[in-house]
Amino acid sequence: MLVDRFGRPLLKLRVVVNDVCNFSCVFCHFEGQRPMSGVLSPEDIGFAAMVFRKLGVGDFKITGGEPLLRRDIVEVVREIDKCGPEDISMTTNGLLLERLSGPLADAGLRRVNVSLHSLRRDRYRRIMGVDALERVVRGIHMAVDSGLQVKINVVLLRENMDEVPDIINFASKLGARVQIIELMPVNDGLTIFDKMYVDVNRLVDLLMATRGARLVGTRRDLHNRPVLEVDGVRVEIVKNWNNPTFCAACTTMRLTSDGKLKTCLYRDPVVDLYPAIRARDEERLMDLIRRANSLREPRWRLEAGAGAPANRHLQ
Ligand code: 5AD
Repeated sequence: MLVDRFGRPLLKLRVVVNDVCNFSCVFCHFEGQRPMSGVLSPEDIGFAAMVFRKLGVGDFKITGGEPLLRRDIVEVVREIDKCGPEDISMTTNGLLLERLSGPLADAGLRRVNVSLHSLRRDRYRRIMGVDALERVVRGIHMAVDSGLQVKINVVLLRENMDEVPDIINFASKLGARVQIIELMPVNDGLTIFDKMYVDVNRLVDLLMATRGARLVGTRRDLHNRPVLEVDGVRVEIVKNWNNPTFCAACTTMRLTSDGKLKTCLYRDPVVDLYPAIRARDEERLMDLIRRANSLREPRWRLEAGAGAPANRHLQ
């Protein structure tokens, strides 16, 4: 297992499989970011996953862009599954889940995070830019029926705060989990930040006061995220901006669609793995991953003065 200079193990890899999306969410931080110079094939990704697996990474999260727009996405999952991972999951807008859930589950996908920032048609369209609520809800049902564990991603906004209890209720009926993500002032998120930002702690206070929410744990394996239980639903709280507590338990790196490794969402890539992946050069790839790991550092540190107050509910 690789551990960085700050004692943080490397346990997870986010695999950015493309940089295109069929939605235009008002706050998008563009995780994929730039146009691709070369794209990793499913076999390339499988090879990289195998090497990361040997270095102790067990948990692979497929993301984009919108991953389901890749025609060979089922192949990508199948290739990652070959390394014997502990978990493979995917973040998606859910539009194409209705058709793809079954094949993805068969290929080895275990979980999906579906972005669902509203259950009201007009509001959904305003936030996500597409009139697709019904189809996405059908996709979520299909994912559950296919045996995938579902987590609903909700980016908290002034506009949808009142809906969070309804979304938790929706998740409860499905046996799904919920993840509330605080708005990050990055790219489009910055443009609308002043108009739409809500401190996620305000929502937690509200859920505790009015919905009997209880703090039931902390994801020590993943950013020290507080976990609430609300009406029998697990609700994770993600506050990553300016939060040293979050960074202190970061266990992940990102592989871009063109084969570069990023140590943090907020940093540029530090090493280019593409040539070593294409050459199937395991030793060189391991060296590069080790080098990137040695460059990992918290974006916000726990030292005094290095960041704003962290999750109040979880000191
Ligand atoms: N702030 C917070 N979350 C965001 N996401 C996209 N942009 C932002 C932002 N600026 C969400 C997506 C997806 C998850 C991976 O991140 O909606 O659910």
